[in-house]
Amino acid sequence: MEKKFKRTLVTTALPYANGPVHIGHLAGVYVPADIYTRYLRLKGEDVIMIGGSDEHGVPITIKARKEGVSPQDIVDRYHKLIKESFEEFGISFDIYSRTTSEIHSKTASEFFRKLYDKGEFIEKVTEQYYDEEAQQFLADRYITGTCPHCHNERAYGDQCEACGSSLNSTDLIDPKSTISGSKPVLRKTKHWYLPLDKWESFMRQWILEEHKEWRPNVYGQCKSWIDLGLQPRAVSRDLDWGVPVPVEGAEGKVLYVWFDAPIGYISNTKELLPDSWEKYWKDPETKLVHFIGKDNIVFHCIIFPAMLKAEGSYILPDNVPANEFLNLEGDKISTSRNWAVWLHEYLRDFPGKQDVLRYVLTANAPETKDNDFTWKDFQVRNNSELVAILGNFINRAVVLTHKYFEGKVPARAALTDYDNATIAEISKIKADIENNLNNYRFRDAQKEAMNLARLGNKYLAETEPWKLAKTDMERVATIMNVALQIAANIAVAFEPFLPFSAAKIRRILHMENCQWDMLGNDNLLEAGKELAEPELIFEKIEDDAIEAQIKRLADIKEANKRNNWQAAPIRENIEFDDFTKLDIRVGKVLECTKVPKADKLLQFRIDDGLGGRTIVSGIAQHYAPEDLVGKQVCFVANLAPRKLRGIESQGMILSAEDADGKLVVITPANDVAPGSEVK
Ligand code: 2FM
Ligand code: ZN
Repeated sequence: MEKKFKRTLVTTALPYANGPVHIGHLAGVYVPADIYTRYLRLKGEDVIMIGGSDEHGVPITIKARKEGVSPQDIVDRYHKLIKESFEEFGISFDIYSRTTSEIHSKTASEFFRKLYDKGEFIEKVTEQYYDEEAQQFLADRYITGTCPHCHNERAYGDQCEACGSSLNSTDLIDPKSTISGSKPVLRKTKHWYLPLDKWESFMRQWILEEHKEWRPNVYGQCKSWIDLGLQPRAVSRDLDWGVPVPVEGAEGKVLYVWFDAPIGYISNTKELLPDSWEKYWKDPETKLVHFIGKDNIVFHCIIFPAMLKAEGSYILPDNVPANEFLNLEGDKISTSRNWAVWLHEYLRDFPGKQDVLRYVLTANAPETKDNDFTWKDFQVRNNSELVAILGNFINRAVVLTHKYFEGKVPARAALTDYDNATIAEISKIKADIENNLNNYRFRDAQKEAMNLARLGNKYLAETEPWKLAKTDMERVATIMNVALQIAANIAVAFEPFLPFSAAKIRRILHMENCQWDMLGNDNLLEAGKELAEPELIFEKIEDDAIEAQIKRLADIKEANKRNNWQAAPIRENIEFDDFTKLDIRVGKVLECTKVPKADKLLQFRIDDGLGGRTIVSGIAQHYAPEDLVGKQVCFVANLAPRKLRGIESQGMILSAEDADGKLVVITPANDVAPGSEVK
C-alpha cells in the first residue's frame, strides 16, 4: 500500500556558488524538481520547493585566491547570477537562499552541537600536511605533486587528472603547497567523525528492504556502499572558510562543506517559514524528496540521513530520484573546461525561449542512463515537435475559430462516436501523465502531454472542418468546440512542463483558472466565450542560430587543447661545436608537388642561392602545394642526402608542431636572400 502524506517537501541540490549553472544542473535537478512541484501545486497540495547556493568548500577559496578577491566576493557574484537566471528560467522555488546566511550558520552550528553533546561523534587525531610558510593546514586541493601511478607532475592531493586515480595527499611524490610553493610537513590535527558504521544495519533495512522502489541507479549505489561496509567520515576541516566548529579548542576549524550544505535545506525552510518549518521536517506525514544528480547520491541517501537519525527528531527522505549525467555534444560537461551551455548565456542568446530548453532537457532527461544534449537535436525538437505539433495545433484551433465564428467558442451539437472516443482519450492521457509524474518519470510524462497535441492534430485532420464549412456549419461548430476543449486541456497539462507557453495558451483562450483537476474535462471553455487574437506559441529556430552555438563549442575545444598542451621536456645539453655543425639556410620555394601514392610527402624545388636543390618533406597533410610556392622556408642544408620514394631529398625543411599536432613551416620574419645562413 502506498503511503499517504499530508504535505511534500521538495529539496534541490544546492549548486556551488563558484560558477554559473549549466544545462547539466538543469536537466539533472532543477527542471524535474520544478515539474514535480508545479504539478503538486496545481493539484492544490501542500508543497514547498527549497533551493539555495552552496557557498562553502575549498574550490571557492581556490577561485578567490586565484582572482585575488575574498571568498565572499566570489559567492556574492555567483549567488546573484544563479538566483537571477533561475528566476528568469521559471524555476519556481519557494525560497532560494544561501549558506553564508546568518540563519544557516546558526542552524548548522546548533545541529553539530546537538550531535556533539549527544556523543554522536568520535574524535580522531591524524597527520595532515601543513604549510609552515603560510602557517596553515592544506586541503588536498592545495597540494600538488607527482602522481605515483602515471608520474604526471601536476597531480592534486585528492586526484590525478591525467590518469584519473583518486589519491591521498600523502601518496604524492614531491608534494608542494600551491599557496607558498614550499614543501609541506605532516602535523597532527584533531577532527570529528560521524561513525557511519553505527548506522549500517539501519541503512541496510531502511534502504535495501524498505525502499526497493528507488531508482535502480540510486538503489544500486547505496547497496554497493553498504555492502563495502560504512566507515566513519570526518565532518570538520582545517580551513578558514565555512561554519566554525562550535567546540572549544576548535579554532581554525570549520564544518566540512558536505556537513553544512544539506543542513542548508533546513535553514532555508526556516527562513521561509519561521513559525511552521518544523512540520515540514519533523512530521512523519511529510513526504521529503531530494532532487539531485548521481554524484550526490551517497550524501543524500546515507550521510545526511545518518546525520538526521543521529539528531533524532527529523524525518528521512521518502525518495531520492537522482539523475545520471547529461553530456554535451558527446563530451562530459565540465565547468573548468568551459564545456557547458550556461543558463545565463542561453537566456541571453535565446530570449523568451525558456520553454524550448525545458522541453528538450526533459525529452532527453538522463533518468536511467547518461544522455546527450546536441544543438541539432535542440533545433529538431523545437521545429518538428514544439512548432509543428504543439504550436501548430493551438494555432489552427484558434485561427479557424476566428475564421468561422468571429473568435467565439461555438456551441456544440450532438457528438459523434469519433468525437466521444477523442474526448475519452484525454482522460486516459491524464491518467498516464499522473502515473508517470507520481513515479518521477518526467520524460514519459511530457511525452504523454505531447500526445494531447497529437490527438488534437489528428482530430482536425480527420474531421476536416474546412471542407464542411460550406455545407454543414453545425458540424463545424461541434468540431471546433471539441478542438478548443483539447487546446484548453493542453494549457493545463503543460503548465508543469512548459509554464510560459501554457500561460500564453491560457491568455489566448481567456482561461482565468488553472487546476490539475480540470484536465480530462471536455467543457473547459463555455460556448460564446471570446478568444484573444491568435499568436504563435513557438517559432522556428533557424540554422544560423544553431551554427553559432556549434561554432562557440568548437572554439572552446580548440582553446582547451592549447591550455592542456604541455611543451616537451628539453633534451640533453649539446656543446656549441655540435650546434655549429648544423648548416641551416633560408630558401625560396620554386615548385611544390605531391609525391604520387604517398599521403604525407611533398616534393620541393628550392632556390638555395647556389643553383637549387630538391627536398622531400612529410607535410602533405598540413599544406596544399600551391600554398607554399613563393614562400621562404628554413632548411637543414648539410643533412646527408637520402632517397624517399625514389626521389633524392637534399636536406630537411623545418617546421614546428602545434598543440593539435599540426605542422607549421618556419619562415623568416622578413624576406632574406635565398641561401642566407640561419645562426
Ligand atoms: O555537488 C554539488 O554541487 C553540491 N554543491 C551539492 C550540495 S547538495 C546539498 F547537500 F546541499
Ligand atoms: Zn596519475
